[in-house]
Amino acid sequence: MQEIYLGDCLEIMQGLKENSIDMIYLDPPFFTNKRHSLTSRDRKSHYSFNDIWDSHKIYAEYILARLIEAKRILKDTGSIFIHCDKSANHILRLVGEEVFGEENFLSEIIWFYKRWSNSSNNLTPNHQSILFFSKTKEYKFNKIYTEYSETTNIDQILQKRSRDEHGKAIYARDVDGSIISSDEKKGVPLNDVWEIPFLNPKAKERTGYPTQKPVLLLDRVIEISTNVGDIVLDPFCGSGTTLVAAKLKGRKFVGIDVSQEAVDLTKSRLETLVKTESALLNKGRLSYINVDEKSLAILSGLDILPVHRNAGIDAILKRNYLSKPVPIRVQREHETLSEAVGKLSAAAKRKGAEIAFLVATNTEQDLFDFKVENCIVKIINSPALEINAVIEQQGQANKSRKTDILTRTG
Ligand SMILES: C[S@@+](CC[C@H](N)C(=O)[O-])C[C@H]1O[C@@H](n2cnc3c(N)ncnc32)[C@H](O)[C@@H]1O
Repeated sequence: MQEIYLGDCLEIMQGLKENSIDMIYLDPPFFTNKRHSLTSRDRKSHYSFNDIWDSHKIYAEYILARLIEAKRILKDTGSIFIHCDKSANHILRLVGEEVFGEENFLSEIIWFYKRWSNSSNNLTPNHQSILFFSKTKEYKFNKIYTEYSETTNIDQILQKRSRDEHGKAIYARDVDGSIISSDEKKGVPLNDVWEIPFLNPKAKERTGYPTQKPVLLLDRVIEISTNVGDIVLDPFCGSGTTLVAAKLKGRKFVGIDVSQEAVDLTKSRLETLVKTESALLNKGRLSYINVDEKSLAILSGLDILPVHRNAGIDAILKRNYLSKPVPIRVQREHETLSEAVGKLSAAAKRKGAEIAFLVATNTEQDLFDFKVENCIVKIINSPALEINAVIEQQGQANKSRKTDILTRTG
């Protein structure tokens, strides 16, 4: 089954058979009270849809009618995911509970992403919500597991847990009091905060459709709630993200949208499936944290911002110099001064810096001298190097004083 309908999803759903759909994901207008418009990347198409409402009541009634139909066509083992943000989260939760029952509300998934914005006088919005309801208690749910966090200790992974008489979590012990090993280690069951990057403007997957969601987000929704061959419905399919994810995962799908442009775009996306992978998800956030802790410790006390993902710069000063950033690098243990200067100088120039500081940590000199004139990099000694140098000098001075006295008295 691969159907895409043009029309109001209420009418189209009314024409669908009851108990026929395994999962519904809907990303309806959010009550943003805006008209959303965008132009495609090739500038050939202009997409827009209306999200302007006279009142909360009218919006709630609009959603209610559609959720009632959604429930009718869902199988008893089915579930529904309602995408929203803070504008209508409260309304959709109440309407959802009205239709599916409070007891069938399962989770509020927080889709978390990093996005820079200059939201004035308020917190930057970095998440949206997906309300997860089942039709009955017999719903399908595929457990998926994620990596253990870096704070999990090895005992927590290797040892079986149980509860004591007060309900407190303890390590399980056998009759002899020995610790029992845990069963197969699968990882940590997926939680309800999902960090999935927002589609960046250059992502291949981006179509230019306003409010387009990433395929990776729908991947996860589909994975936890359906199996291969199941039928997924998106009644507000927009650019067709859910259908693309469903097709890639071997699910059948039905999409509906009132807009002709949305339906055309969905059809074309289904012909050439594009999914933008996320390096952040594949490699993990920790892989980006490549600041050198030892170097940062040396810089402590300075008013700096640590820099990640840059091979030449460890930090930048919070203050600028000649309106340009001031990069800093700490010389690594096995790095000669000229290597360190070279890396910092190249990276600093790329950032348009007028001055940069290298903190020297060892006196190992290069085989060849480097030119410091005209170089934007200024070299200063680390406190350890400075102290050692002073002690060395002092030692030398003492030695020569003693030799001097001996020579004179001898
Ligand atoms: C938030 S967008 C969906 C975006 C989609 N999830 C994506 O990734 O591209 C909402 C969509 O609902 C459609 N829409 C609005 N009212 C509708 C209705 N009554 N029936 C069907 N579609 C509707 C709009 O045309 C718009 O494409």
